[in-house]
Amino acid sequence: MSRYENYTEMKKFVGFTSDDIENLKSMAPVFEKHGATLTDFFYETLELYPETAALIEGRVDTLKLTHSRWMGELFTGVEGGYDEAYFNNRDIVGKVHVKIGLDPRWVEGVMNIIRTGGHAALSQELESAADLGAKFNSLCKILDLDLMVINLSYADERLTRLATFTGMSRKLIENCINSG
Ligand code: HEM
Repeated sequence: MSRYENYTEMKKFVGFTSDDIENLKSMAPVFEKHGATLTDFFYETLELYPETAALIEGRVDTLKLTHSRWMGELFTGVEGGYDEAYFNNRDIVGKVHVKIGLDPRWVEGVMNIIRTGGHAALSQELESAADLGAKFNSLCKILDLDLMVINLSYADERLTRLATFTGMSRKLIENCINSG
C-alpha cells in the first residue's frame, strides 16, 4: 500500500468527512487571529531546548512564515480538498525534518502545542460548547492525519538513507526490521 493509500485509509478510519472540511474552513478566521501567537509560542518553546534551538538559530523569522503557511493550509486543504495535493504537501514535511537531523519526538511535542493552543484559541472565539466540541474534533482529526503523514514519510526517508549509506536493499532492511 502506498503512503497516499495509507493516508486515504486513515481518513476513513478517523471518520474524516465533508462535515470536518466544513468545520475546518469555518475555523480559518480564528487561526488568522490567533495563529501568530501560537506560532510565536511554538518557536519560543523550541528555543528553550539546545537540540532544537541549534536547528532554528538565525532563521526563526523565515521559519515562522513557513509555519504560518502550513497552519493556514490546515483550514483550506490545499487546492480546496484534503486529497492528493494535500497529502503531497504534507509528505514533504517529514522528509525535510529527517534531512536536518531532527528527532521525531520534537515534532510530536510541537503537534501537542498546536492541539492545546488551538483549543485555547477556539474556546476564546466560540460561544457554544457543542460548536467548540465539534470544531475541536475536526482540528484533532486533521492534526493527527498530518502527524501520521509526517511519521510515514519520516520512516520512509530514514529507510532510504539507511539503504543508500549501507548499500543494503530496502527490502533486506525491511525484512530485518520485521524478522521475529
Ligand atoms: C508539527 C510540527 C512541525 C511542522 C508542521 C513543521 C512544518 C515545517 C514546514 C512546512 C517546513 C518547510 C518544508 C519545506 O521546505 O517545504 C519546515 C521546515 C523546517 N522545520 Fe519544521 N515543522 C514542525 C516541527 C519542527 C520542529 C520541532 C523543529 C525543530 C527544530 C523544526 C524545524 C524546522 C527547520 C529547521 C526547517 C527548515 C528545514 C530546511 O529547509 O533546512 N520543525 N517545518
